[in-house]
This record gives sequence, structure tokens and C-alpha cells, in this order.
Amino acid sequence: MPAAIHAEGLVKTFGDVRALDGVDLDVPEGTVLGLLGPNGAGKTTAVRCLTTLLRPDSGRAVVAGIDVLKNPNDVRRSIGLSGQFAAVDEYLTGRENLRMVGQLYQLKSKAAKVRADELLERFGLADAADRTAKTYSGGMRRRLDLAAALVVSPPVMFMDEPTTGLDPRNRLALWEVIQELVAGGTTLLLTTQYLEEADHLAHDICVVDHGKVIARGTSDQLKARTGGERVEVVVHEREHMTTASGVLAALGKGEVSTEQHTRKLTVPVDGGAKLLAEVIRELDSRGIEIDDIGLRRPTLDDVFLSLTGHAAEAGESGGPDSPPRPGEGQRPRLPMEPVTPTATTDEETGR
Ligand SMILES: Nc1ncnc2c1ncn2[C@@H]1O[C@H](COP(=O)(O)OP(=O)(O)OP(=O)(O)O)[C@@H](O)[C@H]1O
Ligand SMILES: [Mg+2]
Repeated sequence: MPAAIHAEGLVKTFGDVRALDGVDLDVPEGTVLGLLGPNGAGKTTAVRCLTTLLRPDSGRAVVAGIDVLKNPNDVRRSIGLSGQFAAVDEYLTGRENLRMVGQLYQLKSKAAKVRADELLERFGLADAADRTAKTYSGGMRRRLDLAAALVVSPPVMFMDEPTTGLDPRNRLALWEVIQELVAGGTTLLLTTQYLEEADHLAHDICVVDHGKVIARGTSDQLKARTGGERVEVVVHEREHMTTASGVLAALGKGEVSTEQHTRKLTVPVDGGAKLLAEVIRELDSRGIEIDDIGLRRPTLDDVFLSLTGHAAEAGESGGPDSPPRPGEGQRPRLPMEPVTPTATTDEETGR
């Protein structure tokens, strides 16, 4: 299958920061690539380079068969982009925003109208269609921005954290839209902090950190790499966590991760149910009361933690005081959080 998105050795530096440090990517036609990585990993920079909003310092990219550096204008005609920060015109209504995008893409006025109505309905914005976007909530702006990216159905789409800030119902609705698009042949590169989203939607996953691809494969391949089952225990008393951690370290076969606020400890294990019984006996013999215990297969969160969790930064050791990681109760970023002026200007030129 030909690659609809191909990148080779992309490098982009901002002063001392190597936001992209030699990224290679291939997204076969009609598939979804999930780009995962912690905050600051380089996901948005990759999306902006591939969508012509930023010029990489070196490397090469071909999107929809067109060289991104040589023919950026042709690339723009073949792609759709929904950026990390919603880019809607505050002073236009939802309906006007969508019609305007249709007209920019040279749809006939009637067709632009029909498409706008369809999308407003689809994204649950029909009731608010004639209000100016500045009266919209964060989630509504996000949805309007996504709808705008879908006014025409370009063969290649880029979505940077499309569901951040959406409530669960709207997130599911967007997943459906995405699945329909892809069933219709669209190729999609999607970044996300919600690992279950990548698990659900992406054919392939690329994990980036510090501007480099540190792992790639299908969700199942990445999980298999992370090893077998986990024992997960929730202890009743927080002060028992240290002792329980010692028990798990002795019986498990890897690092014990702990989550203080939920009193949860997790360790990779060999030995299935028999080992689970042993853990229960050991904890019981030490008088440690358990609220919940079970054996589970690795999730994409485990993959992510094991790949990026022991990053060099202080406080990132996975210990009890380390900061929350993606998928671990982190505050989702608000779609309208301020962006740097250059980013705003650049994003606007993309439409
Ligand atoms: N315009 C810019 N000027 C200076 N530094 C930048 C700029 N854009 C990105 N960076 C830096 O490049 C690195 C990668 O940023 P990027 O926005 O690509 O990360 P990300 O993976 O999208 O993170 P997040 O999950 O927070 O969206 C970060 O260190 C960031 O501070
Ligand atoms: Mg980003």
C-alpha cells in the first residue's frame, strides 16, 4: 500500500530545543496513525511540519504524493487539519464559520450551505448554529473546529488532540465520524493523550519522546513488548503501601508502580492466577487489608509508562511523588488555552 504520509529524518529546532530530532513516519493510505507522546514530545511540531505550517530544518516529507517542502500550496489543497487549539472565527456564527470554509474551498454556495447544515447536525451544534462562536463553550468550539476540518473530505487528514476537552458522549460521536471517514478511504494522522483513543482508532501507533520515535507498531505489538500480565492491588490503608510494594517487588518480575491517591500498586508478573493467590496470601500474612485485587493484561498506558516513564527529568521516576502522567488523572488542556502568537498566525494560514 502506498504511504499517504511519508516523513524522513525530520528535524526542527527552536533555539536549544530539538523539537523534532530525526523523525521518520509512514502512514499507508486509508489507515490511521496514532502519534503518542508526553507533553512537549514534538507531536504538534510534527503535525505542523507535515501540514506546511512550519518548515523543518532538515528532512523530507511527502503528503498525498506531494513534496511538502517543494509544493506546500498543493499539499494544502489535499489535506484537512484540525489543530490543537480551535481556530474558529469568534465573530461569525457556527453556520457562517462552516459556510465560509466551504467557500474558501470553492464549494458552490448551495453545496456549502448543505454541507454546513449536515455538519452542524452531526456535531450536535444545530441548536447553536446561529449564535456567534464567541458564545460557545470550549467543547462546542472544539467541535466546530473539527466540523470545519471536515467541510470538504480531503484524502489526508491531520487531527492534533481532536478530543481533548470533549465530554465522553461527544468523544464517542467523533470516534464514529473518524471511523466513517477512514472507511471511506481517508488517511488520518491523529495525536492524542487518551491512550484508549489510540487503541480504539489507530491501525499503527508511533510513540515519540524528546523529538524521536521511541517505539512503533500496532497496539497489540506494543503491548506484547511490554510483557505479560499485571497484578493490580488497591490497599485499604495508605500506610500499607510501602510494605505492599515490597511484597509485589518480591513476587513480581518488574518495577512496581504506585499511585498514592488511589492506593493502587501494579506489577508485571509471570504465573497467572497461582501467583495472584500467592500475593493475596503474602499480603494477608502481613495484615494488609485489600480493597481490590486482580490480574489484567497490559494496557497502552502500561506501554506508555514503560517507554516514557523513566525519563531523565528529576521526579519522573514513577515514584509516589512523580507528577501525573497522561491517562493518569492529568488535567486535560483547555482547547482555548493561549498559544504563542506565532503559532496562532501560522495555524490561521492553514485554512
Ligand atoms: N514556536 C515555538 N517556539 C519555541 N519552542 C517551541 C515552539 N513550538 C514548540 N516548541 C517546543 O518544542 C517542543 C515540542 O513541542 P510540541 O508542541 O511539538 O509538543 P507536543 O508533543 O505537541 O506537546 P503537547 O502534548 O503538550 O501538545 C517543546 O519543548 C516546545 O516547548
Ligand atoms: Mg501538542
